[in-house]
Amino acid sequence: MKAIAVLPGKPNSVHRTDLPMPSVRDVPGGRGVLVEVLRVGVDGTDKEINAAEYGAAPPGYEFLVIGHESFGRVVEVGPNVTGLKPGDFVAATVRRPGKSLYDQIGHYDMTTDDTYYERGINLLHGFLTEHVVDDPEYLVKVPAGLKGIGVLMEPLSVVEKGIVQAYEIQRRLRLWRPRRTAVMGSGAIGLLTALVLRLRGLDVTVFSRTRPPTLKSSLVEAIGARYVSTEEASLHEAARELGPFDIVFEATGSARVAFQSMEVLNKNGILILTSITGGRKSLEIPADDINLRFVLDNKVMFGTVNANREYFELGVKDLAHAESEHPGWCSRLLTNPIQGLEDYREMMRQLTEDKRAVKVYVDVRPF
Ligand SMILES: NC(=O)c1ccc[n+]([C@@H]2O[C@H](COP(=O)([O-])OP(=O)(O)OC[C@H]3O[C@@H](n4cnc5c(N)ncnc54)[C@H](OP(=O)(O)O)[C@@H]3O)[C@@H](O)[C@H]2O)c1
Repeated sequence: MKAIAVLPGKPNSVHRTDLPMPSVRDVPGGRGVLVEVLRVGVDGTDKEINAAEYGAAPPGYEFLVIGHESFGRVVEVGPNVTGLKPGDFVAATVRRPGKSLYDQIGHYDMTTDDTYYERGINLLHGFLTEHVVDDPEYLVKVPAGLKGIGVLMEPLSVVEKGIVQAYEIQRRLRLWRPRRTAVMGSGAIGLLTALVLRLRGLDVTVFSRTRPPTLKSSLVEAIGARYVSTEEASLHEAARELGPFDIVFEATGSARVAFQSMEVLNKNGILILTSITGGRKSLEIPADDINLRFVLDNKVMFGTVNANREYFELGVKDLAHAESEHPGWCSRLLTNPIQGLEDYREMMRQLTEDKRAVKVYVDVRPF
């Protein structure tokens, strides 16, 4: 069967390759689930893997099949699979367990192992192919009514984890009623974060560089959030009027913005850091002041990566909630469709060059 892969370590090596058809028997214990891949989203990680910034092939292979944002349909299940049946729509989680205690209790996204396993990213093939097989533990059922937007499940799971963990951490305050929130960045992660925070009834300001009106600014406004261009007002200026913020969710890819975010956080506030910053930039910051305000104002910041099935399951609920409150909004994020696996060069071109794209995705087969 067809698959789209890179040669890790070699820039711009995206190519078409072939893999043997997987079987439900590939998973031990009669727990295999064979899934036909319907749609796969791509993001900055796929771009960076193709630029040879990271990514590793599975043992025994020279290539890595990319694609970690999956949506598919079950075609066959092993004899010991319950809860999934042929015809069900599913999204797959990305991490697979290693050896640490966290891995053993299903929190593989919190692994303390040095080596981690991620489908389509590190040491495991991804989903830009025709069929995949997996254990049901890693497949989350998506209701048929959400099939048109099911490909958003993976990026949404990253957002859900960040927000859930922020609330978990803030239980330290016994009473915490966040009101004003800021989202840094209006890419797919920033927009989905704005959505989830609005669904929780919070006041949301989204900061991004590009001046409005754009599709992204209109998406922000359509859910009752505010869009601020940092070309028109600096973060600090805008925060004086609209902040300080009880929650800041940073998703720009810029460490500079991450540090600036520390300065616009309210007393008792929490900063969620998600940007994967692969560079080696240094920065001058008002370190004493930032440190002092964190100490005297009991502020928190934490990093978060990836997600486990708990956050995918929450994502299903929020997609359904979003469809009832803002019908059609999520599908507006699906800006750049690519038809079939053969057009992988165009997929990479749009991912790299189309600055207006929110989500580039491949329709692997019609559904
Ligand atoms: N932790 C995890 O598990 C995880 C998972 C997925 C993604 N991520 C990270 O999340 C981040 C966002 O992902 P994405 O797919 O949404 O990215 P994206 O599509 O590249 O969007 C980034 C957004 O940030 C804005 N931005 C960039 N630099 C800025 C600056 N200096 N000031 C203000 N706004 C700025 C961009 O604004 P303009 O478009 O206006 O320029 C854009 O709206 C990335 O860093 C990615 O690595 C993390």
